[in-house]
Order: sequence, then C-alpha cells, then structure tokens
Amino acid sequence: MPFTANRQFKEQPRLLAKAKGMHYTTVDGQQVLDGTAGLWCVNAGHGRQEIIDAISRQAAELDYAPSFQLGHSDSFTAATAVAKMMPAGMDRIFFTNSGSESVDTALKIALAYHRARGEGQRTRLIGRERGYHGVGFGGISVGGISPNRKTFSGALLPAVDHLPHTHDLSKNAHSRGQPTHGENLADDLERIIALHDASTIAAVIVEPLAGSTGVLVPPKGYLEKLRAITEKHGILLIFDEVITAFGRLGAATASEYFGITPDIMALAKGISNASVPAGAVAVKRNVHDTILAAAANGIEFFHGYTYSAHPLATAAIMATLEIYERDQLFQRARGLSPAFEHAAHQLANARHVIDVRNLGLVAGIELAPRPDAPGARAAEVFRKCFDQGLMVRYTGDIIAISPPLIIEEGQIGEIFGKIGEVLKTVE
Ligand SMILES: Cc1ncc(COP(=O)(O)O)c(C=O)c1O
Repeated sequence: MPFTANRQFKEQPRLLAKAKGMHYTTVDGQQVLDGTAGLWCVNAGHGRQEIIDAISRQAAELDYAPSFQLGHSDSFTAATAVAKMMPAGMDRIFFTNSGSESVDTALKIALAYHRARGEGQRTRLIGRERGYHGVGFGGISVGGISPNRKTFSGALLPAVDHLPHTHDLSKNAHSRGQPTHGENLADDLERIIALHDASTIAAVIVEPLAGSTGVLVPPKGYLEKLRAITEKHGILLIFDEVITAFGRLGAATASEYFGITPDIMALAKGISNASVPAGAVAVKRNVHDTILAAAANGIEFFHGYTYSAHPLATAAIMATLEIYERDQLFQRARGLSPAFEHAAHQLANARHVIDVRNLGLVAGIELAPRPDAPGARAAEVFRKCFDQGLMVRYTGDIIAISPPLIIEEGQIGEIFGKIGEVLKTVE
C-alpha cells in the first residue's frame, strides 16, 4: 500500500465502500465526513452525476485511442477547457495521468526549452526543502522530504539544489492567511545562482502553497521575489499546482490567486475531480513554440504516456471543469474562506496545538510532538477522528484539512469542533 504502514493497516484496516457529496461510507456502514477531499482532489464533492454520465458515455463510445501519432478530438477540446482556466498565455497543455508524471514532464519541458534555445548546459534544477513533487525520480530529487529520498539517494538527479523552506513558527505562529515574515528567504536563490552560475540553471520548482508537508503558506512577497529573480536570470519558474489548482485557494489556480504567473505549471487531482486518474502540464506559449521551432522535422518532444489524454480522463476533465464553472465553486470557496479561517483558529488554544494556519479552504493544525514519539500524537488524532466519522490527514504532527469546495458552513464547524473534542482525549 502506498505511504502506509502495511502491517499495521492489515491488522486494523479502514475500508471505504461508497461516497456521495461530502461523505464516505465505510464497509461497516459508518458515515465519514470528508475533511480532505479524498487526497486533496475531490474538489466538486463525491459521486457527481454529470461526471459519472460523461465517463459512462465515453467508455461505450471510444474506450481508448492511442496518443502517439493518433488522437481523438476530445483531447483537444479538454486541453482548450483546461487552458481557459489557466493564467493568460499559459495555453499549451500536455496530458499525463498523475501529479508525479506532471512534475517529471514539467522538468523535462524545462530542459527541452533551454536546449532548444541553444543553452543545453542549463540542466540544474532548484527545488525546496519540505517540497513534495510526487514520487518519480525527478520529483523526489527536487522534493525536500528526507524519508522519500534517503533510500534512493544514490539514484537522485545529480544537478539539483534546494531553497530553504518557509516554515518559521518563531515568527509566524497562528498567522491568518499569508504570514508576514519570510519574504527574504527567496533571496537564497541569489546565493544558489552565485554558486552555480545562472547559465547552468534550468528551472526553479515550488508548490505555491506546500500541502503535503503540512500546509506551509507562502510568506507575503516571497513568491513575487522568486518570480523576479528567476526572470532576471532567464530561469524558468515551475509552479507545482497539483493541490492548489482548481479552486483550493478560492481561484482557478494559486497563480491567479497570488497574481504571479509561472512559465510552467503541473496539474492533476482536481482536474478530473479524481474520478479518473488524470494530470496535465500547462506551458506558456513561448516555451512551447521555442521547443517546436527548434526541432528538426518530426517529433519535437520525446516524451509521453500510453494514457496521455485517455478518453475517459478527457471526458471526466470536461465534465468536471463544467461543474466548477456552472456551480461557481471557486468563488464559493473564496466566499467560505473567512468562515473556514475563523473556525480553524478556534483551535488556537486547544490542547497540544502550537500553530493554526490557513489559506482558502486549506488549514494546518500543528501539534507539539510527543518527546519520545514524533508523529504519534497526530496519528492518534487521525484514527480517533476517523472512528468518530471525520476524515482528516496528518503529516508528522500536523493535521491538514482541505474539504471539497461544496462544503456547507455547518460542516466546517463540525470538522473543527470534532478535532477540538478529539484533542481533549489525546495525551
Ligand atoms: C504538490 C504535489 N505534487 C505532486 C503530487 C503527486 O501527485 P500523484 O500522487 O498524483 O502522483 C502531489 C500529491 O499529493 C502533490 O501534492
């Protein structure tokens, strides 16, 4: 099982049988409120009939079409629909099947772009500590999570460096929205550039808001600075928006929310409401055109997946994006954000809590770790919440909440209220 203590799980499994709207149902018939949109991906809520219908129709009509030297028209229609939600100019789309594939595709596009410009020596990639970019060799190399890296350390990409992470509770504890301190952490990029020289660096990749390592909200001014420094040195900026795109922050993308446009964006999860595995990379027109223009006649980019633009995925993507637009779910998320923030920060003084942070419909609740067993306290909160009908996520001693965007205000209260009750019972 992925990222799971297999032996413990099999002794005491938690098995889901059904899902509808805001709830899962376990095999034992227990209702569980989904406080995490599955794994940050079911943004429109579970079991949406329009998506089910679209997938079913597509499966009967065209189950599969090869995407090498052939295609199907929905792949282009779906790409156009995705492009419409991207910041202006990011309208070239490459389909993948997951966030990990999107990240590795984005890194390869960055290298291909520089090579096409005659700067093939730009091969260095800069990630960030505590970054999560999936599990491909590219993703774990630029990622900053040591357990994901150490076993494979001899096989990581050779030319990678890391920015410092932005998490500083000594200055930013209990921030509402973006923290005030930390803009200058972006200056570390200048140090890395001075060390390696800009002419060797292809791209910087960050999550605009780091989700998986515990909801690290970017300090005010930080992303602006990263954009300015990368631009100054001809380095591409890649935003990994696998979690943040499709409404999580109350806008179509974090780029739109923060008003900062990267050169390349990695997408997945909410793109299909998780109904069919799907991902995509959105690329600025000039990056795309440069790669195409420089290639000899024939294939311009030697990359792709058997299931790129799988017909079921494109059907699911189109139906999902239609729901987002028709139901105005991103605006809904934005409208709910103040109530969500208020409810989350009610936990500021709860037992064990050392920080509450939030942005859009994401919140992180950090607990003091048990001295002898880091992570154990949050794991207990997770298990107890689940037993009491609430799904939360945890990383280390941080509880992460990221509900479907269809959540009602009462359910927001239910999530944070239940966590508060559970915290009272946890040593
Ligand atoms: C920011 C980010 N990038 C990449 C991934 C990897 O996505 P996947 O698990 O679909 O490969 C994730 C998954 O959580 C993620 O949060």
